[in-house]
Amino acid sequence: MTNPNDNTPSDKPPARGMRRNLATYGDPGFSLFLRKAFIKAAGYSDDALDRPIVGITNTFSDFNPCHGNVPRLIEAVKRGVMLAGGLPMEFPTISIHESFSNPTSMFLRNLMAIDTEEMIRAQPVDAVVLIGGCDKTVPAQLMGAVSADVPAIQLITGPMLVGHHKGEILGACTDCRRLWGQHRAGQIDEQEVEVLSGRLAPTQGTCMVMGTASTMGCLVEAMGIALAGSGTIPATHADRIRAAEASGREAVKLALHGPKPSELLTPAAFRNALTVLQAIGGSTNGLVHLSAIARRAGMSIDLAEFDTIGRSVPVLIDLKPSGDHYMEHFHWAGGVPKLMKELGDHLDRSARTIDGRTIGEIADEAEEVPNQVIIRTAKNPVKPTGGMAVLRGNLAPGGSVIKHAAASDQLLTHTGRAVVFDSVEDMVRRMDDPDLDVKADDVLVLRNAGPRGAPGMPEAGYLPIPKKLAQAGVKDMVRISDARMSGTAFGTIVLHITPESAVGGPLGLVRSGDTIRLDVPNREISLLVDDAELERRKSEWQPPAHLAEEARGYRHLYLTTVLQADEGCDFDFC
Ligand code: FES
Repeated sequence: MTNPNDNTPSDKPPARGMRRNLATYGDPGFSLFLRKAFIKAAGYSDDALDRPIVGITNTFSDFNPCHGNVPRLIEAVKRGVMLAGGLPMEFPTISIHESFSNPTSMFLRNLMAIDTEEMIRAQPVDAVVLIGGCDKTVPAQLMGAVSADVPAIQLITGPMLVGHHKGEILGACTDCRRLWGQHRAGQIDEQEVEVLSGRLAPTQGTCMVMGTASTMGCLVEAMGIALAGSGTIPATHADRIRAAEASGREAVKLALHGPKPSELLTPAAFRNALTVLQAIGGSTNGLVHLSAIARRAGMSIDLAEFDTIGRSVPVLIDLKPSGDHYMEHFHWAGGVPKLMKELGDHLDRSARTIDGRTIGEIADEAEEVPNQVIIRTAKNPVKPTGGMAVLRGNLAPGGSVIKHAAASDQLLTHTGRAVVFDSVEDMVRRMDDPDLDVKADDVLVLRNAGPRGAPGMPEAGYLPIPKKLAQAGVKDMVRISDARMSGTAFGTIVLHITPESAVGGPLGLVRSGDTIRLDVPNREISLLVDDAELERRKSEWQPPAHLAEEARGYRHLYLTTVLQADEGCDFDFC
C-alpha cells in the first residue's frame, strides 16, 4: 500500500518531522524555511524541532463530559513523548457527544473521520496519539488514521465510575433507560427524575456499562492498536494518566519504527475484534464501526463469519446491559487481557499489537484476580453463545442484527402482528396514544430511520413500550427497525435492517396488521406476505420526502454518499 501522505519522491527516505507534509509554494526549501519561521514564534528551539513529532488529537469540548479528562491526558501524553525524546504537538479536531449531536452523532461520525484524516495528512506528524472515548469518536479517529496511514495509537478517555441512588448502584445509560421506563409507567415522579439526572453519570468519562464506548475501548485492545489493559481504566483513576504517559512514550517508538495502521490492522486483527465483540456482549454499533474501519483498510467484515463466530464464542463478561456489573469491575477483574486469556484459541494469538507483543503474549501475562466473578471461564459463561446474531430473510436481504444476549429468551422465537410507524416523528406522535391498536404480543416496526431515512441512523431502534402496555407491566416486546440502538439498551430488538426502507428496502412494504416472524435460533426475520402482494406494494412505494428536497453543505454530502449499515455507513468515496 502506498501512502499518499508522503510528499517525498519514492527513491528517497520519507521526510520526517518538520520536513514532512510541507505546504506547497513551488519551492520546498522555502516552505521549510517559512514553516520554521512561524513555529519559532511559539518559542521552539532547533533541537526540539529536529525531534520526531508526535501529534496529539485534542477532542476536549465543554459539550463533551465524556472527554472531560482530555486536558490531563494530553499533559501526560506530552510528558511521555518528551521522556522518550520526541516533540509532542497537540492539535484540535471536532468532538462528538451523544447527547449534543443533532440530528444524531452518527450523522457526524464521518465528518470527524474526515477531519481527523485530513489534519493528520496536512501536518508534520510522524505518529499520532488519538484521544477519544465517547461513542462515535474512537471509530471516527480510527477511520481517519487508517486512511492517513500514519503510525497511530488509540488512547481511550475511560469509563465513568458508577452512581448510587437509594442504596442501588446505577450506570449510564442502561439505568437511564430503565428508570425512564419506570417514569413513563408512573412509578417514578418528576422530582425523583431530577435527582436521578444528577446521579446516573457521576464523573467525567464514558458510559460505564458495556455500551458503544466501552465496546470500542475493548476492541482497540483486541485489534492491538491501544496499549494492553488501557481500554478499561476508569477515566478518573491515576492509572488512566499513567496509560496516557505510556502511550506518549510508545508513540515516539512508532514515529521511528512503525507499524503503520495498514501493517497492524490485518484480517487477524479484525477477526480478533469480532470475537471479542461477541464475548463481551458488546454494542451492535461496534459491528457498524468495525465495518467502516475495515473498509478504510481495504477489507470488509463478513456478517456470516461474524454470526459463525457468535455460535461458538460464549459471552464471558458479566456487565450490564447483558449482565450485572460495570466497567470499573471489569477492569479490576483483569480487563481485556484476562478476557483474551479465557478466549484462548478462539483468538489468533499470533496477531501483533502496538508494542510489538502478540495477543497471545498479552493474554499469557494477564493478571489473575482471586475470586473475581466478572470475567467468566468458558465452562461457566454468562451465555453459552456470543452476544449478537445476524438475521436474514425477506425483510432483511442484506442482513440485520440482534443483541440476543440482552433480549428476552421467550421472545427470541415469536410470530406477531405488525404495528408500523412510518418515521421517528410518527412514532413519537402515536406511540402513547391511548387509542393505538397494540397488544403485548405485537411486533413494533419503525422505518425510515436508517442511514438516509432519518437521516443519520439514530438510536431510535429501542422503541419505547407503548405507555398503556408499560403501565400494564409489559417490559419487552419484539421491535424491528432500520435504526441503530444504544449499546446500553436491553430488549428483543432487531436493528440495522438492510437495505433500509428509505432506499427501497422491504421494510418499507410492511403494513400494520401483517404478520412478522422472528426466529433467532434459525437466524430469520420474515414478513409473511406473499410475493405477488409485495410486488404490488413495491409499485406504490414512495421514498421519504426529504430525499427529494434540495440539501446543501455537509447534509448534501451525507445524503448522497452514505452507505448502508453492512458497509459501515461510511461515505462511498472514503
Ligand atoms: Fe459519551 Fe455514553 S454519552 S459514552
